[in-house]
Amino acid sequence: MKQRVFSGARPTGRQHIGNYLGAIRNYVALQEQYDCIYCVVDIHALTSLEETDRLQESIHEMMLDWLAAGLDPQRSILFVQSHVPEVMELHTLLSMVTPLGWLLRVPTFKEKARMQPHNVNYGLVGYPVLMTADIVLYKAEVVPVGEDQLPHLELAREIARRFNSIFGPTFPEPQSKLTSFPLVLGLNGAQKMGKTYDNYIELAATPEETSKLVMTAVTDPARRYRSDLGHPEVCNVFNLHHFFSSARVDEIAVECRSAGIGCVDCKKLLAQGINSELEGFRERRAAFAARPQCVAEALSGGSRQAQVIAKETLAEVKEKMGLVQRSV
Ligand code: TYM
Repeated sequence: MKQRVFSGARPTGRQHIGNYLGAIRNYVALQEQYDCIYCVVDIHALTSLEETDRLQESIHEMMLDWLAAGLDPQRSILFVQSHVPEVMELHTLLSMVTPLGWLLRVPTFKEKARMQPHNVNYGLVGYPVLMTADIVLYKAEVVPVGEDQLPHLELAREIARRFNSIFGPTFPEPQSKLTSFPLVLGLNGAQKMGKTYDNYIELAATPEETSKLVMTAVTDPARRYRSDLGHPEVCNVFNLHHFFSSARVDEIAVECRSAGIGCVDCKKLLAQGINSELEGFRERRAAFAARPQCVAEALSGGSRQAQVIAKETLAEVKEKMGLVQRSV
């Protein structure tokens, strides 16, 4: 039997190249060898979303990106988290075996609490428990994510281990799977690329928008004049060349070090590389966008399939926790 993969992403709207390089590429590749389930985690999004009126639109936009990137509803289960409400029940049950101290130590909780001091809600503390419920509800063994999610995965393993030790072997301990670009920095070169930091390039941006954004990217800070010699190893733009200009990356490094090219030239090359890599993606996305019902169809089929598995696991958990009579 194939191993099961699960991953999820918050519906923040159109996905950016950080999501793509850090996670989506793996989601697509893993479809070849695994039994894959990918989830749009709308409940998680509520922990920080202030404008819920745009949630449905964001789910749609994100799904267009997933389909255009190559997620195939014939091969993978694609669904929206809240459409399989069993996850919320499992979240509550898992919260009983999760010490509060574990959750208060999670770095992302501390960061969120710092970023939204006006809204340090209970859902933020329970965020990794809900994430664990997402994964173990499907007994997933492999979880493709970017590096920023590793503390959550560590906690998911601890919660699964604790549940298994109290109630008997039930859940596999999920292993994370990173791509070769597990942490993509944003255009400011300071934080990870993300919607929160407004330092991102959307996959679906037009070639013109992409070029304009790339021109704002921070490069080697020591290179102030065109004649200064560059240090590609500290430059985020150069880092992105590894993926988007892979055939020319060595040549670009030599040219940067010798000041043969300046940062503006280097960024123009990067914009070309991104636009040519994403050309096919953008065409496919436009084709899916012209048939908006394909999103609804993929999601309704996906949630039906996911729910079959979810119900089975939840029944097992309830029985193990003594909530229903043990079957003989
Ligand atoms: P989210 O929505 O923030 O991101 C979705 C995926 O994209 C990856 N990612 C990145 N990778 C590299 N560089 C970046 N700059 C970058 N930005 C985002 C993320 O690591 C993630 O893999 N908590 C999760 C969603 C979630 C989940 C789950 C994931 C809920 N339940 C169960 C796995 C399993 C999140 O907020 O991802």
